Amino acid sequence: MSLLEIKNVCASVGDKEILHDFSLTIGAGEIHAIMGPNGTGKSTLSYVVAGHPAYRVSAGSIMFKGKDLLAMTPDERANAGVFLAFQHPIELPGVTNALFLKTALNAKRRFNGEPDLDAVQYMKRLKARATALGVSDDMLKRPVNVGFSGGEKKKMETFQMAFLEPDLCLLDEMDSGLDVDALKIVSDAVNIMREKHRSFLIITHHERILEHIVPDVVHVMIGGKIVASGDKALAREIDKGGYEKYR
Ligand SMILES: Nc1ncnc2c1ncn2[C@@H]1O[C@H](COP(=O)(O)OP(=O)(O)OP(=O)(O)O)[C@@H](O)[C@H]1O
Ligand SMILES: [Mg+2]
Repeated sequence: MSLLEIKNVCASVGDKEILHDFSLTIGAGEIHAIMGPNGTGKSTLSYVVAGHPAYRVSAGSIMFKGKDLLAMTPDERANAGVFLAFQHPIELPGVTNALFLKTALNAKRRFNGEPDLDAVQYMKRLKARATALGVSDDMLKRPVNVGFSGGEKKKMETFQMAFLEPDLCLLDEMDSGLDVDALKIVSDAVNIMREKHRSFLIITHHERILEHIVPDVVHVMIGGKIVASGDKALAREIDKGGYEKYR
């Protein structure tokens, strides 16, 4: 069964149409990668799925777990299992990582008819994920992304993902700015989270991350739509030859 089904979507920001008749289906348990030149609409795609209010969908449909995603608010989408790790993570002054994650997790649990985690269960889950991803107690006590380095912000986004256990993980250039060790840690987190019910969309400019996280499908996106799909060899080809032949 497909987890995400995007059909013939046209989407704009301001008065500019960015996604043109865009279609993509991701099956449950699959990892898809999207590569494409700057400004081609990759982040736009992730915003449209997550429900960013500035992006208007004028045509097409998006189904998530068989439900009409476009009819859902951004928080309903998140609670239903959509997660976006931003290309440029947002800073939330005054909101600590620990509080942010607890609030987000309990909102999701209530949405799904589950009781809040108690303090002990919460701390256990937080510590386990933090240790695995090399996130210190000090980092958990700091406001979300405020003063974090570029690479640390990316790591914290991955940590949020690991903590919240979403079903659809949209990772927008999660590999940019990461040192080699951090790239390994973040990739390991994705590989550990790989499960039959969980899917990933990895937006990237580099073939390197796909050496760590082996995708089921690689897509090339140009001018707001997918122009080619293949396996890892396609990523290698792009890395060597660029996008010229697809333009
Ligand atoms: N508010 C806006 N008004 C007009 N154009 C916009 C607006 N926001 C984004 N765009 C344009 O939309 C296009 C797609 O942007 P998007 O961020 O989706 O590209 P991308 O494929 O993620 O690029 P990159 O690889 O550089 O991250 C770009 O040309 C961008 O300038
Ligand atoms: Mg982008």
